[in-house]
Amino acid sequence: MFGVSVIIDIKPILLYTQSINSANWYAVSERGEKMSGLFITLEGTDGAGKTTQIKLLEKYLKNKGYEVICTREPGGTDISEKIRKLIIDPENIEMTPLTEALLYCAARAQLVKQLIIPALKNGSIVICDRFVDSSIVYQGIARGMGADMIAELNKYATGGLVPDITFFLRLDSSAGINRKKKQAKLDRIEQEKESFHRRVFAGYIELCKKEPERIKAIDASRSIDDIHNIIISHTEETIKKLSL
Ligand code: TMP
Repeated sequence: MFGVSVIIDIKPILLYTQSINSANWYAVSERGEKMSGLFITLEGTDGAGKTTQIKLLEKYLKNKGYEVICTREPGGTDISEKIRKLIIDPENIEMTPLTEALLYCAARAQLVKQLIIPALKNGSIVICDRFVDSSIVYQGIARGMGADMIAELNKYATGGLVPDITFFLRLDSSAGINRKKKQAKLDRIEQEKESFHRRVFAGYIELCKKEPERIKAIDASRSIDDIHNIIISHTEETIKKLSL
């Protein structure tokens, strides 16, 4: 099982969260009652075009009068950005898969608590470039640590927060890396072998099949405008459904 929606089922997390500040952390999973915002994430293989689409969606929603917060993973807060540098530094070739998975979790825990939850409670729309799905696919599936184990670990990091909508920009892994190579020097993860990126792509396809309600796959070889139009129509539908 990948998805999490009800934190109360997870006893160790309940103890952990209560020992910090239960009132705060309960809000994470009680979206309907305490959080009035909308949480959107974008996922895809490296070079799929997420950044362009996030900028366009942000502009569209701001023009409609919504309060929009854009952020990224790993990163988005001072501490999480420092962790990002550590993770993607090509010099850190000795980093073990477990260290890597825990660092992504650490960056995420900080981002969720410091930025995402306060923004959602405030009624904002939060657009995040990658979230837990990336860890499930990159660390769980491509690194072979196990999707369930990574999902479990991430329940601790996020308190069980699940995006309302996830857009998966589907682009064949080699096409994505070729796009990236033209733009900049590749980071430690991007420098992985082609077989790693193929497993990432296959992992996303598997995840889409498991969670078709939440994850909307879009062919990323389509034009920028086409993709943007699909994203905004699906976002509008969800806004209506949730009566935001
Ligand atoms: P970015 O290039 O999309 O900003 O992401 C940085 C790299 O980190 C990218 O290659 C994907 C990878 N990644 C993971 O392996 N696991 C994760 O949980 C996240 C958020 C990103």
